[in-house]
Amino acid sequence: MNRAIISGIGVTLPEDSLSNEELVESLNLWVDRENATRLADGLDPLQKSSADFIYHASGIRNRRVHTRDGILDPDRMAPRIPARADDELSVQAEFGAAAARAALDDAGVDAADVDLVICAGSHLQRLYPSIGIEIQREIGAQGAAFDLSLGCSSAAAGLHVAFNLVRSGAHRRALVITPELITAHLNFRDRQTHFIFGDAATALLIEAVDGDEQRAGRFEVLDTRNWTQFSNNIRSNFSYLNRAAEEDASRVPTEGNLIKQQGNKVFKDVTVASHRFIVDFLSEHGRTPDTVRRFWLHQANARMNQMILKLAFGQEVGHDRAPMVLDRLGNTAAAGAVIALYENHRDMKAGDYGLLCTYGAGYSIGGALLRMM
Ligand code: COA
Repeated sequence: MNRAIISGIGVTLPEDSLSNEELVESLNLWVDRENATRLADGLDPLQKSSADFIYHASGIRNRRVHTRDGILDPDRMAPRIPARADDELSVQAEFGAAAARAALDDAGVDAADVDLVICAGSHLQRLYPSIGIEIQREIGAQGAAFDLSLGCSSAAAGLHVAFNLVRSGAHRRALVITPELITAHLNFRDRQTHFIFGDAATALLIEAVDGDEQRAGRFEVLDTRNWTQFSNNIRSNFSYLNRAAEEDASRVPTEGNLIKQQGNKVFKDVTVASHRFIVDFLSEHGRTPDTVRRFWLHQANARMNQMILKLAFGQEVGHDRAPMVLDRLGNTAAAGAVIALYENHRDMKAGDYGLLCTYGAGYSIGGALLRMM
């Protein structure tokens, strides 16, 4: 078995952003208009959203969005991202390629020396050709590429696959790319979810190292793990089967087929499952949470992360131990924990342990135990 390291990390954040106040103003404007007709039809009024609720319930203040244009327009409430011709670079491949190039730059590795590309995201633009293959061509990587999707645990699942393929010797250098373009799938008219997600792309370069070679400032990946258990509490019914379910098959409905979430159920279930996952995974390696210098957790909810760590440690744990990026970036799905890792590792010392842990739809949980070289 080879040893495997994370030799490069890349993050791409869009320039456009949206505050809670802006999203709430737009949703509430739409609600006022809807309620005027609902009242006339004798229907219960829709409820308004509140920026205070969003911050206190989730910890989110702001999010970056790939395309702001169209989202706040109460007549549209979706980003305006024009279709591209088949011979143009896809929107998602462009987003992912930028993060991949940043990871290669960070590692000082030429794309031609990469022999595996995994596009691992909660949302994929199409079924085929694989977005991973398009990124492979765009950056000039060799070997093979494929797509993989496991909700907000996609990056950790991609890392799990890449780590084991590199360790086994099947591949030498693997890129795990997570281009999360979620706002295009978000229902900005649903007050339960309209504030949750932001867009971001990340990439991890996983590389085999020989013998006892050490690369100062990089992480050795000691082990990875995935756990899943079926749940409908976070669900998207968006599918190629949507038109087949319609009497008028020329109609492709989106209403009702976008992201749905029963956030409070997810909160409870995932908090319990994740803290057990953390404690058990670490214990398999003879470690307890207090021997781990840093936790890069999934960035969905600040209170949830505090609770998971409190259960795992038996006491409150501060942001230096488990940094948050969601207050300014929102929930960037599978990209969130990788962004937390990217922004919070340069102060770590040789021999320090770190745990990347993500959780989300499926349910799915993914973990990677890292040690600074
Ligand atoms: N503005 C104002 N009030 C709102 C609201 C909004 N945008 N959305 C919901 N509410 C109301 C609810 O109707 C409810 O009102 P009620 O008490 O009168 O019934 C109340 O606020 C509490 O709603 P609830 O859904 O229980 O809120 P919550 O405290 O659970 O927070 C989330 C909601 C989504 C922030 C939180 O559940 C969460 O983050 N869950 C985890 C999500 C997750 O990890 N997903 C996996 C990865 S994607």
